[in-house]
Amino acid sequence: MLLKLVNAKKAIEIGVFTGYSLLLTALTIPDDEKITAMDLARSNYEIGVPVIEKAKVKHMINFIESEALPVERCSVKYR
Ligand SMILES: C[S@@+](CC[C@H](N)C(=O)[O-])C[C@H]1O[C@@H](n2cnc3c(N)ncnc32)[C@H](O)[C@@H]1O
Repeated sequence: MLLKLVNAKKAIEIGVFTGYSLLLTALTIPDDEKITAMDLARSNYEIGVPVIEKAKVKHMINFIESEALPVERCSVKYR
């Protein structure tokens, strides 16, 4: 709901786990936009990938397996 209220186009999710909220974010923002998603472990994210693929939003997600803070400082461009 918040994403719709602010008309969000891009998103960053820190702490994806299996991707439940990531999927909801992907289904909410425009299909041609991107989400940078980070978690310490890829294995949990991969549990949710089949559902994300079934929802046809996998192309929107750039998953980075890392602790969030070093990645955010080094490589995430906000605009
Ligand atoms: C409660 S789960 C997230 C659930 C998910 N956001 C959802 O709504 O489905 C917390 C996740 O944060 C991740 N995490 C914790 N500290 C982190 C950090 N510093 N950088 C990246 N991921 C982190 C954990 O590995 C875990 O998968």
